[in-house]
Amino acid sequence: MTNLSIKALEVDRSGIPVIRGVDFVAASGEISVLLGSNGAGKTTLLESLSGIIPVRAGAIELDGTALTRLRPGARAKAGLSHVEQGRTVFPEMTTEENLKVALHPDADLREAYDLFPELLQRRTVRTGMLSGGEQQMVVIARSIVNRPRVIMIDEMSSGLAPVIVGRLMKAVRQLADNGMAVVLVEQFAALALAIGNRAYVLRRGQMVYDGGCEELIQDPARLHRLYLGDTGQAA
Ligand SMILES: Nc1ncnc2c1ncn2[C@@H]1O[C@H](COP(=O)(O)OP(=O)(O)OP(=O)(O)O)[C@@H](O)[C@H]1O
Ligand SMILES: [Mg+2]
Repeated sequence: MTNLSIKALEVDRSGIPVIRGVDFVAASGEISVLLGSNGAGKTTLLESLSGIIPVRAGAIELDGTALTRLRPGARAKAGLSHVEQGRTVFPEMTTEENLKVALHPDADLREAYDLFPELLQRRTVRTGMLSGGEQQMVVIARSIVNRPRVIMIDEMSSGLAPVIVGRLMKAVRQLADNGMAVVLVEQFAALALAIGNRAYVLRRGQMVYDGGCEELIQDPARLHRLYLGDTGQAA
């Protein structure tokens, strides 16, 4: 069973501590929802996991293998896939060309098209012509063609209509049900919690919640306090 495990992580940006003493686990078959207000450090955390930015201290392990000092390419090879915030399609290329950009010789596109049959019909269409939702499908599909063990998706839903977000959420659930470990950073907290297993809330670089999604769905006032850091009450 795949397990991405992070211990006592410290990450700085421009010399300022942004991630402070974070523990985090993402397990195979589960969606781990990572929440937090703007600037809390969600993107920084994902970027440090995929190796885009270095960590100052702490450990990142995938199934017992230390990733902490590996380059991004080696982490991807180990099975870690990162859909970066704001990542888009190559608009001049067709859907299929986009999916093949980083495709390993021994991989194929079957799972990508199984996940999004919509894209099969749009195979030969230049992705610049696709809707925003379809483009996001291409971005997600492209990130799974090499069959990663962990996929981390940063702000999948920004700018998309709720019905499309629902469609994407269903696909993300399917990835987890197929055995992937999914890390989902999401503005639509309610939608993400509804499909998630574990929830984490980051506030100013510290993890202030680590528990079930269900508890937060049933206590929106608590979620609100966790986001805003109302120190007057226990979260
Ligand atoms: N390239 C950078 N250089 C210096 N500081 C940065 C850089 N990127 C982000 N920061 C700072 O790091 C902190 C965390 O930012 P980060 O983008 O990780 O937050 P986030 O939770 O992803 O926010 P959002 O919800 O807006 O995407 C913020 O204080 C931000 O200003
Ligand atoms: Mg972000």
